[in-house]
Amino acid sequence: MKVTIVGAGNVGASCAEYIAQKRIASKVVLLDIKEGIAEGKALDLSQTATTLGFNTTITGVTNDYKATAGSEVVVITSGVPRKPGMTREELIGINAGIVQSVASNILEHSPNTIIVVVSNPMDTMTYLALKATGLPKNRIIGMGGALDSSRFKTYLSQALEKPANDIQGMVIGGHGDTTMIPLTRLASYNGSPVSQFLDAQTLEKVAADTMVGGATLTKLLGTSAWYAPGASVAYLVDSILNDYKRMIPCSVLLEGEYGLENLCIGVPCIIGAQGVESIVDLQLNEKEQALLNKSAEKVKAMNAALKEVL
Ligand code: LAC
Repeated sequence: MKVTIVGAGNVGASCAEYIAQKRIASKVVLLDIKEGIAEGKALDLSQTATTLGFNTTITGVTNDYKATAGSEVVVITSGVPRKPGMTREELIGINAGIVQSVASNILEHSPNTIIVVVSNPMDTMTYLALKATGLPKNRIIGMGGALDSSRFKTYLSQALEKPANDIQGMVIGGHGDTTMIPLTRLASYNGSPVSQFLDAQTLEKVAADTMVGGATLTKLLGTSAWYAPGASVAYLVDSILNDYKRMIPCSVLLEGEYGLENLCIGVPCIIGAQGVESIVDLQLNEKEQALLNKSAEKVKAMNAALKEVL
């Protein structure tokens, strides 16, 4: 199985690292426009194979899309990342052109691939990739919900002082500081609602921390995060290549699901060999549905900026 990662920055390199370490694919191609960077990171990562015990071959190329031919999955991480104080939305103009040209180059060499979009603003870039390529909706997946959910579960585990893997929970809606919706009501500690163990004020703080989870890291690091984004991509790619059919919140085109249409936004999806195999209806309560409607309005307002490029 072959996976291409476009963009050998921090996020792209972390994706490659986890995909190799977890033996998710036999071949990983890292592609970047900056001369030498993908080659260098691929070589460095390859030299961890014997100490970490994996056999994945990792190849780095500078803008050579021929090397990506026959990829089952392509992850697009390219574009500029956030600087402290910047919102994901401010990246739209620069990243739209990049995502559009990357998607068309990719499809020339891997016409059957499934595309995972990571570039920000992610929901808008996913919508752009879908419209620009004309691919069926199951083959364009925006990665944001897996990452936001992992942050949500981490904050819950810290508040509960319990192991993160004993926590279940999801974040839906847009992948933005004001658009994501941590589903506190449905989160559980080994099947028991978290509200049984945490008071409303603590749960509100967990939700608020989750929503600005990326911004908190950008402030600390001076650029956006990469370990959790890379791991979340690997988790998603694993479900596709192994046809695990995991339920993962992803940004997908809605056509009436959740009463919404004509946008890509985070909802729980069954992710398998066909990409998005179905969308799960969570039976949101009125308050959650109202938050999702509001989130969708904001994502749509951002998509309006695409008029100039589409
Ligand atoms: C973040 C970026 C990857 O949330 O969107 O860290």
